[in-house]
Order: sequence, then C-alpha cells, then structure tokens
Amino acid sequence: MTRPAVLVARAVFGDIVDRLRVHFDVEDNPEDRIFSKAELAAKLAGKAGAFITGSERIDAEVLDANPQLRAVCNMAVGYNNIDVDACNARGVLATNTPDVLTETTADFGFALMMAAARRLAESEHFLRRGEWTKWSYDMFIGSDVHGATLGILGMGRIGQAIARRGALGFGMKVVYHNRSRLAPELEAPLGARYVGKEQLMREADHLVIVVPYSAASHHAVGSAEMALMKPSATLTNVARGGVVDDAALAAALRERRIAAAALDVFEGEPKVHPDLLTVPNVVLTPHIASATVATRRAMAGLAVDNLIAALTGGTPPTPINPQVLAR
Ligand code: GLV
Repeated sequence: MTRPAVLVARAVFGDIVDRLRVHFDVEDNPEDRIFSKAELAAKLAGKAGAFITGSERIDAEVLDANPQLRAVCNMAVGYNNIDVDACNARGVLATNTPDVLTETTADFGFALMMAAARRLAESEHFLRRGEWTKWSYDMFIGSDVHGATLGILGMGRIGQAIARRGALGFGMKVVYHNRSRLAPELEAPLGARYVGKEQLMREADHLVIVVPYSAASHHAVGSAEMALMKPSATLTNVARGGVVDDAALAAALRERRIAAAALDVFEGEPKVHPDLLTVPNVVLTPHIASATVATRRAMAGLAVDNLIAALTGGTPPTPINPQVLAR
C-alpha cells in the first residue's frame, strides 16, 4: 500500500518531523526556504497533507491546484494565512495550535508592555551609544505598570492570561473590549470591566492588543482610536500585523500623542514600516511571543498530532473547521 505523502513547508524540530515519517512519505524543507505561492502549490502536488506556519498562505488558488489535499495543519494559533471558507468549500481540514502557547505569549505581551512603560529599549540604546554621562531626575522617566489601568482589546485565552498577570500580579485595574462579554465567573476574579472600544482607548494606561486578524479587525486601532488615548498611554501589539495601522502609530509616537509602544507583529512582516524604525519610543521584536523551547516544541507537536490524526482516521485535537470531518 502506498503511504500518503505530506509536505513540511518549513524547517522545524527534526525529532518532531520524524514522527510524521512513521506514517507518511515526508518532503521537508531543512534549508528553510520561503516558498512563493507558485512554489508552494507545486510542492503540494501529490500531497495529502501539509504542515505549515503563518508564512504559508493557503487560498483557493493553492487548493484548486491540489484537489488531493485533505489537511493543512498550522503551527500557529492565528490562522489568517488560511482561507477557511475555501477549505470548507473543498472539504479540506484546517487545524491550528491553541492553548499550548497561551501562557508563553502572555508572558511576552506583559514583558513588552512593561518594556514600553519603562522605556527599556530606548534607554538601553542610549547607554549602548555611549550617551550616558550622568544621572538625572527625569532621565527616561516612564509610567508605572503596577496599579495602572490595563486595557485589553480581544479577551480570548491570551487576553485573559495577560489580564491575570496584571490583576493578580501587579494590582492593575482591568478594562477590556471583545466581540462578546466574558461570563461573570471569568470577569470576577480579574475584576475585569467590559467597556466599549472607545472607552477602552480613553481609559487604558497600557493598551494590549490580542485580537485575531480578520477583515473586521483590519486597522481596528488607527489614528482615530489613538486620538482617544491618553498622551501618557502605551500600546502593545502581540496579535497580528494589520490590526494596528503601523504608519498612524509611528506618527502618533513621533508626535508624542501617545507615550510609547511595543510591537511583536507588523503589517507586511518581516518588513517593518520604515517610520517605526526611526521613532525612538517603540520596542520592536521579530514575532517571537511564543518563542520558548517548550512552547515551540508543543506547537510543532500539536500540528503533527493534527496531521497524523487527520490522515489516519483519528480525531484531530484542534480543528478549525471540524464540520469538514463530519462529511
Ligand atoms: C503566532 O503568531 C501564532 O498565531 O501562533
């Protein structure tokens, strides 16, 4: 019996990829080339499934070129790189990696927020440039995190984990906006208050954005929203590029309409808007919020579990479109 073939589209932990070799003929990409759309479609020829990351876009064109494809398993919780409607229409299962990265991503979101509030990167650059010649009372003064108002846009698993850190660890007041309000038993231990988006912008001392990217959340935080924020406020984005209007943010930072920002995700990454590179009051990291050994291994492992189950008649643990399985 011929074994199904799968593509592992990016370099990933060898021992985890080896688990796929037990079941499938594996074409991998150890040199970690980023495939163009045409290359990805060509690499998928004859494959029943694919292990992908957020860098690989699965759309109707790629799927139509590969009608044999049955499962695409993303090593990421966000899945805006997958056209789920196109997958549904063609009976292709899509999976993601929720839960395993929640706490790690929340740690990093909190770290970025603290870095922005306390001007960590800006002051470190100053020191490295050799500009530190004396102590002064107002050198890199920022704003407190403890006791401040933490505003969360997108109160899903990661948003709630950041809120826990703020409320329970730092005595922060938590306000949030989300598509739907949390159940009272989730709000109560955090003292979290549900507010409209405009009020969130007005009240937050530190705004953390954790909302998934979609057409509906495109530029959810743009110049109109930033205009409502306090001049002392910070903005942190660990969600997706495109949720924040990066050009508008750079302008707001340059003109000190808000105090500081921290970004792990960017519109059009790995390119970064050139204006962000020249404003001092922003911390920039290359999409690493989930990047710990344990968490990246757990994400890769979950994507592999999904792929194996999808193609061997098992139950994939974290399907995005489980209705496809019922067919
Ligand atoms: C990372 O950005 C993810 O969605 O897992």
